[in-house]
Amino acid sequence: MTQRTPLVAANWKMNGSKALVAEMTTLLTRADLQGIDVLLCPPATLLPLFTQAEKLALGGQNLSQFQAGAYTGELSASLLQQAGASYVLVGHSERRTLFAEDDELLLAKVQQAVSTGLTPVFCVGENLQQRQQEKTTEVLAKQLAAVYASHPELLAKSVIAYEPVWAIGTGEAATPEQAQQAHAAIRQQLARYDATAASKVRILYGGSVNAGNAGALFSEADIDGGLVGGASLKPAEFLEICLRAKD
Ligand code: 13P
Repeated sequence: MTQRTPLVAANWKMNGSKALVAEMTTLLTRADLQGIDVLLCPPATLLPLFTQAEKLALGGQNLSQFQAGAYTGELSASLLQQAGASYVLVGHSERRTLFAEDDELLLAKVQQAVSTGLTPVFCVGENLQQRQQEKTTEVLAKQLAAVYASHPELLAKSVIAYEPVWAIGTGEAATPEQAQQAHAAIRQQLARYDATAASKVRILYGGSVNAGNAGALFSEADIDGGLVGGASLKPAEFLEICLRAKD
C-alpha cells in the first residue's frame, strides 16, 4: 500500500485578518503536527504576515495563467511564491462558477503553477443536479481529463481536492461513503494517465468539513486529508480537524 502523508488545508476565501493570522500561527506552531502536512491558503495579501510559521505550508487561492506582464489586478505564480506560497488552489468551484473559469484556462493555470514550482491543488466536484442525475463520475472524469489527459506529467506534481458543490458552505458534508466512492473514482480515472502518480497523489475532501465529521472522512482509504473553508477560520476547530488526520 502506498503511504500518503495526510494534508489538511485551510481555504480562508475572502476572509481573515492580521489578527487571525497571529491567532492561527500561535495555536498551530505550538501543536504537535508531526506526521501531517498543514497548508494555509489565506487571501494573498496576508501571506507575508506568516513569519513564524515554519511548520506550516502556505498557498494562494488562485493565480494568473500568465507569467508576468500588463495584467492589472492579477497575481502570478512567482509573486505568490515570493510572498511565501508553495501551493496554490486551482479551479475551486467558486472560481469556476462565479468567475467563469473553464477547462482550458485551468490547464494553463496548473501549468503556470507547476512550471514555477508551486504545487497546484486542483479542485473538482459535481453540483447537486449532476449528482441527482447520477453524473458524478462523468463530471469528475471530464474535469480531470481537462488537465491530466493531455499532460499526465503534471499529476505527480499535483494535489487533487474533491469538493462536491452541494456540500460547500451548506453544513451538509458528503457522507464518508459518498466521499470515498468519489475519491476512488478519481484515483481510478487518474490511473489511466499515470498509475504510479495516481497511487501517490493526495486527494483531499472539501465541503462542510468540521471537527465532528473530519475523523470519519479522513479514515476512508482514498481520503488523504481535507480542504476546509468555514471551519478553518476558527483556530481551535481547525487544529482539531488537523489532529483528526493523525488518528
Ligand atoms: P466549507 O468548508 O465552508 O464548506 O468550504 C469548503 C471549501 O470550499 C474549501 O475550499
